[in-house]
Amino acid sequence: MRMLSSEATAKIGEQVTLQGWVHARRDHGKIMFLDLRDRAGLIQLVSTKDLADARPEDVVEVVGLVKKRPYSMVNPKIATGTVEVEVTKITILSKAKELPFPIDTEGYEINEEIRSKYRYLDLRRPRMARNIRIRSKAVAYIRNFLLARDFVEIETPILTKTTPEGARDFLVPSRLQPGKFYALPQSPQQYKQLLMVAGFERYFQIARCFRDEDPRRDRAYGEFTQLDLEMSFVTQEDILRLTEDLFSSLVAQIFPEKHISQSPWPRLAHYDVMKKYGTDKPDLRKDKNDPNELAFSWTLDFPLFTEQSESDFFFGSGKAKFAPSHHMFTAPHPDDVGLLDTNPMKVRGLQHDLVLNGFEVGGGSIRIHQAEIQEKVFDLIGFTDAQKKDFSHMLTAFTYGVPPHGGIAPGIDRFMMTVLREPSIREVMACPTSASGATSVMDAPSSVASDQLKELGIAVLPQRKK
Ligand code: AMO
Repeated sequence: MRMLSSEATAKIGEQVTLQGWVHARRDHGKIMFLDLRDRAGLIQLVSTKDLADARPEDVVEVVGLVKKRPYSMVNPKIATGTVEVEVTKITILSKAKELPFPIDTEGYEINEEIRSKYRYLDLRRPRMARNIRIRSKAVAYIRNFLLARDFVEIETPILTKTTPEGARDFLVPSRLQPGKFYALPQSPQQYKQLLMVAGFERYFQIARCFRDEDPRRDRAYGEFTQLDLEMSFVTQEDILRLTEDLFSSLVAQIFPEKHISQSPWPRLAHYDVMKKYGTDKPDLRKDKNDPNELAFSWTLDFPLFTEQSESDFFFGSGKAKFAPSHHMFTAPHPDDVGLLDTNPMKVRGLQHDLVLNGFEVGGGSIRIHQAEIQEKVFDLIGFTDAQKKDFSHMLTAFTYGVPPHGGIAPGIDRFMMTVLREPSIREVMACPTSASGATSVMDAPSSVASDQLKELGIAVLPQRKK
């Protein structure tokens, strides 16, 4: 039976079978060492026989005797450093060619397109494997935390209609209705609100979101993951508290080496934070050289609208002056509702941004739940009748008994990037799309057969040479 490397320290004197990759090989003439790597870590193998065939990254099965190492030979750098396995038999299960790049370095120095092309090798890199494993632990923690608090995990559609979050949509053509398109969701915003109308009261989802926008160090091109959550019969205070409890306990459990600079987290009004720091996502760390400091804060009291600019291509007929600061479902502050008619730019929104070490790691709000206010906002952002019709299902749903509701969506990738202090969001994603829009390993986007296009009723215009 196969044993994991981590079990070896408890099996001194026993004959064991290990399976894994040859991580490294050291030839000392009469004696040879191999490091074997499996999902649990590394273990040293030793042999006086010739293991010439076993090269780095070959997959092997080893039968051998676990021996305690003499004190002077203990390797404190690996968890199994007090033992080694004397090889009785080694079988090569599969050979490995020389890898296109080293995997025993941090990898930042390697060209990103190559790392992306061979992502399955790049993920063998201990740093990347650690990032992906710890991300899994963090997500599992979040799930358990919310399920224990009466939340329901619900999947919402990927083939859907546009949900504007300010980026371009990805479109998917329909075969059954040629000439029509689905849009991939920029977030599950509308569905989660509809789930509140449905009466679930507490929903969450580890949700994939799709946005066609230029990538940045903290912004993935194409797709990324949010913890999307929504609650009914809550105030903004309830949402802030729940988020604060969730992330504080997540840090304590999953990142025990980290410390949070200030609890409760500071709450800053948008106007003040802009005046003091010139940004709505200030880095409030006390010591920016401290790798383990996490400075969470809230930015609140955003204006509901910003001046509409050309980049707000989605909204309106081009005549309106206002674009939503967050999104068009965010509720105005109850004290400012009257200003919607008189001075919209003075209306505050019930938006909350979650900030960590200078990054916006989450955003959310209390939502509009009155059809007439929602319509007013549609008008102010200059929606045409056709655009209003695209969202009429929300207004219709709100006529059947809608609870007051609100939520938040922390970005999982951006949170992990910030906590792990990675230089790019792609370092915490298993298979990210590259900056040029190419997918990892599989070479998408790619051309499709003309028959497929015909079935969809699509003709591709000749591409202009760049
Ligand atoms: P928003 O658009 O502010 O809100 O997004 C919420 C959080 O998602 C993360 N995020 C991204 N992460 C990686 N790459 C991207 N391209 C990207 N875009 C956004 C960020 C951001 O703070 N529906 C609302 C949420 C709500 O109102 O509940 C929404 O999506 O961490």
